[in-house]
Amino acid sequence: MTQKKQIYKCNVCGNVVEVLHEGAGELVCCGEPMELLEEIKEDKGAEKHVPQITGEGDSIKVNIGSVPHPMEGDHYIEWAEVQKKDGKIIKKFLKPNDKPEVGFNCKEAEVNKVRIYCNVHGLWST
Ligand SMILES: [Fe+2]
Repeated sequence: MTQKKQIYKCNVCGNVVEVLHEGAGELVCCGEPMELLEEIKEDKGAEKHVPQITGEGDSIKVNIGSVPHPMEGDHYIEWAEVQKKDGKIIKKFLKPNDKPEVGFNCKEAEVNKVRIYCNVHGLWST
């Protein structure tokens, strides 16, 4: 049974999918079950991924992470997402050479959770 907003990865071809509507079936890609990515909430070691939120009036700035994350061709933050308390979600995609920071039109008090996805180190959240 899947759950809405879960992220699954195929460790054969690299497909990453998000569940938009839960169902009973198992997600399979390239003939194998897809891996459910757990949201990691604590940094370990030198590399930092946990999103840092700064309120800026009616908007927020999200830095990834407490030390700026690399944004190189083979290792970068693919997207950042704000999940608001009212259930709405804002997702922004990044590309190599972008800054590891994203602005969102959302007050800090409206934020339930921020998630980011690193193409090497997976899914992280506040
Ligand atoms: Fe990373």
